[in-house]
Amino acid sequence: MDPRKVTDDIYYVGAPDWDRRLFDSLIPLPQGTSYNAYVIKGQEKTALIDTVDPMKWNVLKSYLEHVEKIDYIVVQHVEQDHSGSLPMVLSMYPEARVVTNSKAKELLITHLHIAENKIDVIEDGSTLNLGGLTFKFIFAPWVHWPETMFTYVPERKVLFTCDFLGSHLATSSLFIEDERLVYMGAKRYYAEIMSPFRTIIKGHIEKIKKLEIQLIAPSHGPIYQNPDFIINAYEDWISDTPKNIVLLPWISMHGSTKEMVDYLSDKLVQNGIEVEPYDISTADIGELTMATVDAATIVLAAPTILTNMHPMAQLVAYWVSILRPKAKIYGFIGSYGWGGKTLDTVKALFSNVKGDLLEPVLVKGLPTAEDYKALDKLAEEITNKHRVLGLLP
Ligand SMILES: Cc1cc2nc3c(=O)[nH]c(=O)nc-3n(C[C@H](O)[C@H](O)[C@H](O)COP(=O)(O)O)c2cc1C
Ligand SMILES: [Fe+2]
Ligand SMILES: [Fe+2]
Repeated sequence: MDPRKVTDDIYYVGAPDWDRRLFDSLIPLPQGTSYNAYVIKGQEKTALIDTVDPMKWNVLKSYLEHVEKIDYIVVQHVEQDHSGSLPMVLSMYPEARVVTNSKAKELLITHLHIAENKIDVIEDGSTLNLGGLTFKFIFAPWVHWPETMFTYVPERKVLFTCDFLGSHLATSSLFIEDERLVYMGAKRYYAEIMSPFRTIIKGHIEKIKKLEIQLIAPSHGPIYQNPDFIINAYEDWISDTPKNIVLLPWISMHGSTKEMVDYLSDKLVQNGIEVEPYDISTADIGELTMATVDAATIVLAAPTILTNMHPMAQLVAYWVSILRPKAKIYGFIGSYGWGGKTLDTVKALFSNVKGDLLEPVLVKGLPTAEDYKALDKLAEEITNKHRVLGLLP
C-alpha cells in the first residue's frame, strides 16, 4: 500500500484494529482502536515515528514496502502497541538509527531486546534536522509511562503525541468524521491510563498550548484538525472541580443491596444530583472508569459473601483507589446475613482515597424502616457536601 498523505511530506502508515475488544486485558473496546505510525520525508532524511502493535505488523510492512529508506525511527513510547514492531522494522532497514530518550532506551533494551548500539539518545528540547523539516522533541513523562515524549514539526505545525490525546477508535478515515465517537474513545483512553497522572498532565497541556499547532497526530484514533477540541476536553477532565454526580457501582446476589441502591438513587435525584449506577456484574469497566473522571461522590454497594465484601466489588474499590479520582466523597452501603469482615475491608480499601469516607450503611437482610432512615441521612450528607463544594444551589 502507498503511505497515506496527512499533509505535505507527512504520511500515515498505521493500522486500525477493528476487531480488538479488550485493552490491557482489562478495558473493553466497543469501537476497536488503532495504532498510528507516521513517515516523515525530509529533503535529506526520512523518519518513521512509532510503529504498530505486532499483531498489525503486516499492515505497517505493506506500507513500508513502498518506502525505500528509513534513516531514523523515533520511539515516543516503548509500550508494545507502538514499539512492538520495532525489531521487524529494524531488520527491514538495518542502517536505521533508533532515536529516543535515555529512559526509553533502557526500556527498549529490557522490553524488546533492542541492541544498545542501534539507539541514539536525545534530550528534552533537542532537535533533529531531516532537511527542510525539523523534529523538536518534547519530553512528556507519565502519559502514561516514565519515558513518553512528543515530537513537533514546526515547518508543518504538526504535533505527534503518541498515547496522549489519543482515542480508542478504529476508523478508515485519517481525520475526525464524528466528534462524539472520538470524544468517547478519547475519554475511555484517558480515564484508564492517564487520569491518575492528571496533575502532571496539566503541565503538558500548558506546554502544548504555547506551540502553534495545525494538526495533532496521536498514536491511537484519528488526527485532530481542530486541536482545541481535544485540548478543551482534556482541560475539563483534568480539572480539580468534580461534577454534581454520584457514581454508584453496585452488585447484589438476591436484590437486598439493590433495594438500598434504588432508594438512595431516588433520594439523590430528588435532591438535584445526577446518579450513575453501574451493575458491577455486567458493567463495562471502561464506562465505569470514565465515570470516575467526573463524579464528586463514589458510593460502592455490595453484599457480604463468605465472610467478606463481594469480591467483584473489592476489585472495583481497589481499581477506583489506584485511579486516584478527583471525587471528594466516598461511601459504602450493603446487605449481609449474619456477620463478617466487610466493614474492615471497606476501611482498608478506601484508606488511600483522597476525600471523606462517610459512615457506611450496613443492613441485615432486607432494609427496614430504620435502615431507610440511615439511607436518608446518607443522602442528606452527600447533598450537603455537594452544596459546600458549590455543585448545588
Ligand atoms: C454464597 C453466599 C455466602 C454468604 N456469606 C455470608 C457471610 O459470610 N456473612 C454474612 O453476613 N452473610 C453472608 N451471606 C448472606 C448475604 O450477605 C445476605 O443474604 C445479603 O442480604 C445478600 O444481599 P443481596 O440480596 O444484595 O445479595 C452469604 C450469601 C451467599 C449467597
Ligand atoms: Fe501506552
Ligand atoms: Fe498506546
